[in-house]
Order: sequence, then C-alpha cells, then structure tokens
Amino acid sequence: MRKVNKINIPSLEKARLRNKESLTYIYSHSIDDELKSKFEGKKFFIRTYGCQANVRDEEVMAGILSSIGMERTENKSETSVAILNTCAVRENAEDKVYGEIGEFKALKNKNKDLVLCICGCMIEQSHIIDFILSTYPFVDIMFGTHNIQDLAILLKEYIKKEEIIIDVESKVGDIYEELPSKRNSSFKAFVNISYGCNKFCTYCIVPYTRGKERSRKMEDILKECKELVDLNYQEITLLGQNVDSYGNDLNDGSTFAKLLEEVAKLGIPRLRFLTSYPSDFKDEVIDVIRKYPNIMKYLHLPIQSGSDEVLKMMGRRYDSKQYLALVDRIKAKIPEMAFSTDIIVGFPNETYEQFLDTIKVSEIVGYTSAFTFIYSPRKGTPAARLKDNVTYEEKVKRFKELVKSLEVSFDEKAKEMVGKTYECLVEGPSKKNSDILAGYTENMKTVLFKGDTCLIGKIVKVKILESHLYSLVGEVIYE
Ligand code: SAH
Ligand code: SF4
Ligand code: F3S
Repeated sequence: MRKVNKINIPSLEKARLRNKESLTYIYSHSIDDELKSKFEGKKFFIRTYGCQANVRDEEVMAGILSSIGMERTENKSETSVAILNTCAVRENAEDKVYGEIGEFKALKNKNKDLVLCICGCMIEQSHIIDFILSTYPFVDIMFGTHNIQDLAILLKEYIKKEEIIIDVESKVGDIYEELPSKRNSSFKAFVNISYGCNKFCTYCIVPYTRGKERSRKMEDILKECKELVDLNYQEITLLGQNVDSYGNDLNDGSTFAKLLEEVAKLGIPRLRFLTSYPSDFKDEVIDVIRKYPNIMKYLHLPIQSGSDEVLKMMGRRYDSKQYLALVDRIKAKIPEMAFSTDIIVGFPNETYEQFLDTIKVSEIVGYTSAFTFIYSPRKGTPAARLKDNVTYEEKVKRFKELVKSLEVSFDEKAKEMVGKTYECLVEGPSKKNSDILAGYTENMKTVLFKGDTCLIGKIVKVKILESHLYSLVGEVIYE
C-alpha cells in the first residue's frame, strides 16, 4: 500500500458556502525548470468528459504540460502522464470514467513511470475519492477543478515521494488569467466569461464542483477574444454556466449585453454563447443579437421541464408562462432565431400529466435541437434526498416518448432548410466517410458535403439537398 498525501480533501459542505470575501485575480504563472528536465520530449494523454468548461480546462492542462516540453498523444501505451478529466453531472458520465480508469491497470503494470491523474468534477466529491482509492489504488494524483493551475507542482511533488496525492480545494474559487493554454482547434474557440454557478438547481452538482459564480474582467475577456481574431479564428463561443448573470459580481457596470456587443465588434465571423438562464436573460441581449450579423441566431435556452410544479421542485426561478413569453419576445424581434434546450425527464415524483406539460411547451417553442436526460440523483443535492415514486422503467418510457415528440419538430425545421443555401463552418472529414466533409450551420445543424480538405476551418456556402433527422446533405456553392 502506498502512502496517501492528502494536501486538501473535498467537502460538499464547504463547496456549498457562498461567502462574501473578494475574489483574487491572479496574473502570473511560472514554469518549473526541474520538471522540464524530467518530462521534456515525453508524451501526455488527456481524455475529457462533460461540458465545455471541462474542455477549456483540458486546453489549460495541455498548455501547462506543453510548457514543460511535453507533447500530446492519443496513444495511451506511449504516454508518461495520463489525465482523465471527469464529469459528475449524471451517473452514466461517471460510469464511463470508471471503465477507462480500469483500462489503465494493465498499462501501469507495463510502464512503471506512467503517472495517472484523475481530475475534474467527480473528484470534487469525497465519496468518489474514497471509492477510487479502494478500487483503483494505482491512480497516482487526484486534483479538483480549483487546482488545475497547480498541475506541474503536483507532478513535481509526486515524482519526489511517489505517494498518492490528493489536492482538492472546495472553495469559492479564484480567477487565474494568462495560464498557458493549447487550444484543441485552430479555428473555433471557447472563451470563459465566468466560472461557477450560484443557482443551486435542486438536482444539479455543478454549483458544488465549480464554486461560486465569478466573472472575469471584461478587459481580460476582450484581450483573449482579440488575440483569437488576430489568429484568424472563425468562431468564438463565450462560456458560463449562466452567461446572463455575467458582471453581477464585478460592480463596475459590466453586463452580458455590453460584453456580447464588445466581442461582436471585434469582428469574429461567428459569435455564440452558452448557457442562458431564462429568468436572467435580459431583453437588451435580444437587441444586441439582432444588431450584429456575426452573432449567431441560435439560442440554447434550457427549460428543464414544462410543468410549473416540477420547475418549482427543481428550484428553477421561472414558470412555463415566463419562459414562453421570453421566447415570444425573441421571436418577435428575431423571427429566424433557432432554439435549442435541455430537458430532464423523470424528476422525483413527476406525474405523467406533468411530463405531458413538457411535451406541450416544447411543441409551442418548436426546438431545432435539444439535449434530453433522464434524471440522475446526485449525492449531496436536495433532490437526491427526495423519495421517488416513479420507476426507472417509467422514466425510460417517458424519455422515449419525449424524444419522439421532439423529433417531429427537429424534422420539420430540417426540412425547411432544403433548397436553401447556408454558411457552414467546415470542421473536418465526416466521422463515417473520410471523403465527405462535415460542417455546421448558424443553427448548429451538421451538414455533410463533398469538398477538398483545404476547406477545413473555413466558412463556405452550402446548398442543402437532403434533410435527415440529425444531419443534412448539401453541395458547396463556389462563387
Ligand atoms: N449551466 C447549464 C448546464 C448545466 S449541466 C444550465 O443550467 O443549463 C447541463 C444539463 O445537464 C442541465 O441543463 C440539465 O438538463 C442536465 N442535468 C444536470 N443535472 C442533472 C441530473 N442530476 N440528472 C439529469 N440531468 C441533469
Ligand atoms: Fe446546474 Fe442550474 Fe447552475 Fe445550470 S443553472 S449549472 S443546471 S445549478
Ligand atoms: Fe460535468 Fe462539471 Fe461540466 S459536472 S457538465 S464537467 S461543470
């Protein structure tokens, strides 16, 4: 048995606190020469689960490891440092991670120098750390979402003593600027505008794993976006668990509407943002979206449920009427706006009638796409303590019924696109056929078409020829 060095262990109790102490903005980061000599030329592997916040964290970790001279690999058997960047939002996300940790047992036996790190939202929970320690004792380092900037320091500690290291701070969080970062794409980028979440929806683990909602300073966000524009990036997505409350903690007049407008003015060809919270969404944002053609007319607006009783139980601070009124105000000013959403089916004690309310509201909105989930109890959240009278089989049945109903609207929206020409950002060869390129439209529909690989990373005009439920087929229009 190896010794376990618990530098900090997580506490959901502490993570729940939202104290008033002011944030620290940290602008410096130093790289260790000792680590360079140890890791220079060696390979690292990172697998990320979960949302774009995690993807952006992956880019920072890749930046830190590159700065000590390492190179990325997708081949686990040649790697010296492996990182699994985990998600805790639903049980099935966690199960996938456990499957992959298991695979490392044989690799660690073959390669004694391989350092296996697990980080991300799962590690913010002490019961998960205990489970990993007892089930996968070959894991070397576990660190939390607030400890990413210390990756190099943790590696150094580990090499010195070869004890298992656990460093998970449960705190409101600081803001680190100017950390090294190696972006996954050379043409589309994600830019954090705020971290954490204060909403505490009763089913959700994110406010515990990501800390207090805290906004980056507008000038720092604009500087990062300007650099991306100068590097010829084609698309920026501004990220926050609730973008609409951006600036509330800054007390300098910064709002999301102002920020969005300033970023749009930098001239990035495509600008998006994620995620909007219905009752925090301000009408000024509608005007900004309308004013700038480079802000995509696509809005991800999670409804979660169409039943007012269920929304209340979920701790969502709007009802279906307010949600639909917002959608109407947006449609009135921007008729071409496409809507997508997140929906949870089978919240504890949801009745069939309440479930049908979700279908009804969805039909009124007419979503172009949607992310649908079966409710998954998350330890430590208020909803997980509720006794539930709905069986899992019933939840699966409702889930299938919801998807079928949503697909009617997806299909309708896709059919309306046939015969018209849309701009597509070309992502790369299609997953199924490398002779075909895949791109996506302003409303996030995937389009498949023939074309030269030199188009990858560019925005091209594509005429839509056929529509399928989840993709479209088109031809490039050369002008
Ligand atoms: N901040 C964003 C994203 C949060 S996580 C937002 O508020 O929309 C992404 C989605 O996962 C949520 O919108 C919700 O639909 C889903 N989700 C969160 N917790 C869940 C749980 N315990 N069970 C099932 N789905 C969940
Ligand atoms: Fe979770 Fe709600 Fe915060 Fe979204 S707004 S991250 S669903 S608590
Ligand atoms: Fe998952 Fe954490 Fe994102 S729980 S959805 S990776 S904030």
